Amino acid sequence: MYIDQLKKAFSQAYPDSGTPSVCRAPGRVNLLGEHLDYNGLPVLPSTIDREIVIAFCPRKGGIIRLRDVDTRYPDVEFANTPDIPPSPAGSWENYCKAAVQGLNRHCELDCSVGMDLLVAGTIPPAAGLSSSSALVVASALAYLASAGLTLGGNISRIELAALLAEAEHYVGTQGGGMDQAVILLGEANKACKIDFNPLRIETVPIFRDYSFVVCHSLVFADKTGSARVRYNEGPLSCRLLRAMVERQAQRTFGDEIQITRLADLWFGPLCLLNSEVEALFRETFPRPTTTLDDAARLLGVSIDTIRERWIGDLPEPSGGFPLQARARHQLSEFQRVESGRDLLIEDDPVGFGALMNASHTSCATDYRVSCPELDRLVKTSREAGSVGSRLTGAGFGGCTVNLVATTQVPDFCDWLKREYYAEFSAPPTFALTPADQQLLVVPSEGASHF
Ligand code: GLA
Repeated sequence: MYIDQLKKAFSQAYPDSGTPSVCRAPGRVNLLGEHLDYNGLPVLPSTIDREIVIAFCPRKGGIIRLRDVDTRYPDVEFANTPDIPPSPAGSWENYCKAAVQGLNRHCELDCSVGMDLLVAGTIPPAAGLSSSSALVVASALAYLASAGLTLGGNISRIELAALLAEAEHYVGTQGGGMDQAVILLGEANKACKIDFNPLRIETVPIFRDYSFVVCHSLVFADKTGSARVRYNEGPLSCRLLRAMVERQAQRTFGDEIQITRLADLWFGPLCLLNSEVEALFRETFPRPTTTLDDAARLLGVSIDTIRERWIGDLPEPSGGFPLQARARHQLSEFQRVESGRDLLIEDDPVGFGALMNASHTSCATDYRVSCPELDRLVKTSREAGSVGSRLTGAGFGGCTVNLVATTQVPDFCDWLKREYYAEFSAPPTFALTPADQQLLVVPSEGASHF
């Protein structure tokens, strides 16, 4: 029904276009493993049964016309060229441009393909549920089909996921590869343990008698807006962290050692144990904060070189970067992902919930990506009966994910209505229906074209 309506709306929006096809890409919720993917460390998300759908039709002449059924997103038209100029940061069309440019480069397409697109969707925006990467993936599927290429035939899902993770940097965020991978490779009723470099996915069953409930904090974490700058502090400061850890590892193990990603500590030539990584972090970051002077001394380079190579114009916090705590989060969260995968397989929701709770504490105190509303929502959710609650996605607002006995979900939701939603309200521009504030999510199939 919903697809038929979208097709009808497409023909009204583009009366001069042909009969549309449709593709869809689900959102995702991250269960464990926050802010690890850009360091190449594993993560544990699942798809959700909320999605972006696009009705589309190829057109000749390399012009791409983009519309959303929600008129808050302005109509856009742009030319398909080898270097598509980005619209101002925060513009929604940049996600579509990112996909088209990424595929042009990777598949050596000649940019003569155009298309008409009409976007609709059910993923609440700015919620940490990856509506933006779902738009990138759905745009990519539409463009592949418009160019006469097939997923599986001309490009594999794994290859597409890896290339779109890179391509999305076009919008100005320095994200990792989690979202595109789970959106393309997720399966119904399964969570995904994702490893990187090379990208590998293991699907694992979700709990039999427990459900994941996603709750919106009503703080809007728009990663195209102000949250983008805060988000990028993570990847940028981790570049400095990695460089310093590499230097320290060279001192300890020999100058030939290279740590290209933090994950190389475990999976690279050194194959360190967690306790050895912990010791290396302790040696590299003996104090809670690291000033640029400290970093320059360890690395034997100037501050200008540090900026040029790793952190750009990332401002130095007064007192220095909190790299000791950032490193601690990477190590502890990595261990939680590894154990979480096992606990899913063992169907141990209580053990998994304890890991979710510890993850939230680490995200809030060590990685500092929470906010008072998320902390309050997590606390209230535990009082309401969840066995585990944590922020999910980039943080700074958006949603929490909560593990709740399926029979208790209605009571859990009522409790939060009384104890959280009665007090907080969404800014009017983002008015969310109650159904979008509390979502009982079920993992759905990965993105598809039909
Ligand atoms: C965003 C990014 C992901 C990941 C998460 C935090 O969703 O797009 O790549 O870094 O934040 O875990």
